[in-house]
This record gives sequence, structure tokens and C-alpha cells, in this order.
Amino acid sequence: MRTTNMRPKLIAGNWKMYTSAAAAEELAVAVAAGAPADPNIRLAICPPSIWLTRVAAVLKGSTVSLGGQNCHFEKEGAYTGELAPAMLIDAGCQYVILGHSERRHGFGETDELLNKKTKAALAAGLHVIFCIGELLAEREAERTEAVLDRQLTAGLAGLTPEQMANVVLAYEPVWAIGTGKVASPEQAQAAHAFVRGKIAMLFGEVVAQAVLIQYGGSVKPDNAATLLNLPDVDGALVGGASLKAELFLAIAAGAKR
Ligand code: PGA
Repeated sequence: MRTTNMRPKLIAGNWKMYTSAAAAEELAVAVAAGAPADPNIRLAICPPSIWLTRVAAVLKGSTVSLGGQNCHFEKEGAYTGELAPAMLIDAGCQYVILGHSERRHGFGETDELLNKKTKAALAAGLHVIFCIGELLAEREAERTEAVLDRQLTAGLAGLTPEQMANVVLAYEPVWAIGTGKVASPEQAQAAHAFVRGKIAMLFGEVVAQAVLIQYGGSVKPDNAATLLNLPDVDGALVGGASLKAELFLAIAAGAKR
């Protein structure tokens, strides 16, 4: 049975390492122009960091939020190629994605490192989109819940319930990212319910009922409404389909109650 809740839906676009300067501006213009007026459907876009200030200028005065795709845990220092959380704030960001599977598995980011990054990002005033999710081999070995448990327990260790107000979780089964294979509604709902239950254990029921849990992994206009209407799915983290404004906006339209 469907439970109704007061949580808004957050649809975030992760542009990864795509777009030229011109394409980023054009995409941001189109997303801002088409953003739904419904206050219960919130949009955020996360362009490559080099385009953040340009995109921030485009989004000024719109309802669309801006996010970075990663940050370092130090405030500043000799860390060639890295970005401090406060730099993302300066560039106009409200969000940062941390723990994306491409960072965990492609760049070796550990739960401990992500915990440091999360604390630093929150301290700087960012909202964190904290990604979790199991590999195909882990799902096949029936280790999905154990993996999510570990990623949440270690990744969010030491955070206060108050800080959790600025954390969004994104459940992204790694086998569904960029593959066209989407989790079934049953798989998605079961994982999201498990995550919410774990958050209740770690931070209490009030935090668990308030926290937004996005689904990510091959979200497209044709599967968005089904996923977004599941009781514990509070939005989507969209990769490929966020690079076309009409697809991203069609996904957002699927969040309408
Ligand atoms: P996808 O990516 O929508 O292209 O599967 C999702 C993500 O990486 O967050």
C-alpha cells in the first residue's frame, strides 16, 4: 500500500565529464526555463566544476540549484587538481555529490575518506548528496543490505541528527548506472526502505522520515514516474538523461503526485 509523505522530490542531474562551455550554458538555460513551478519538485544540476560559475550565472533567479560532483576534505592546501568545499560555495553551489560509484570504484574512494569529505562539505555549508549502492556481484551474493549498511554506518559516522538535515542519500545500484538496466520497482523500494530503516537506527525516526533518498541508475522519462511514486523514493540522481533538457525535465514531470 502506498504511504503518503510530505517529503519533496529532488531531481538532480549529474553531468559527469560531459559538456563544452557553450553546451553547459545552453543546457542550464533550458533546464531553468522548463523547471516545474511545483515547490514539491526541486531540481539541481551538477556540471563539471570548470563550468560552475558560468552555470551559476545562468541559474541566478531560477528555482534550480547548483552542485559540484566532488570535493576535497581540506579547507585549502597543496592538493593539485582538487577543490575545497568553500570554493564550491563561492562558485554558487548549494550541493555536492559525494561517494558516487565512479569515485568509489574508479578512484578508490573509501568509506573513511568519504566520511571526511562529508563532514568538511557540511561544515562549509553545502548540502551533500551522499551516494551508496552495491556492485552486481554483491547483489548476486545477496550482500546488498550488508554493503548499504557499511556505506551508511562508516560514511555518515560522527554526524549529528541536525547535520543529517543537510544530507540527501542517493541509492544507486552500480549495475544500473549507465547500463540501461534499471532496478525493478520492488528492488528499488526494498533497498530504499532498508536505507530509511538504517537511518532510523543511526539517527532516529524523525531524521529517517525527513531524509530524502534518491534513486539513481538509468532513470529515463519512461521509468521515472514508476520509480518516483514508490513510497520511499524521494527523487532521482540522473546521469545520461540529464544531458538533454527535455529528458531531464520529463523525468522531473514524473515526480508529480
Ligand atoms: P545514469 O547515471 O543515469 O546514466 O545511469 C546515474 C548516475 O551516475 O548518477
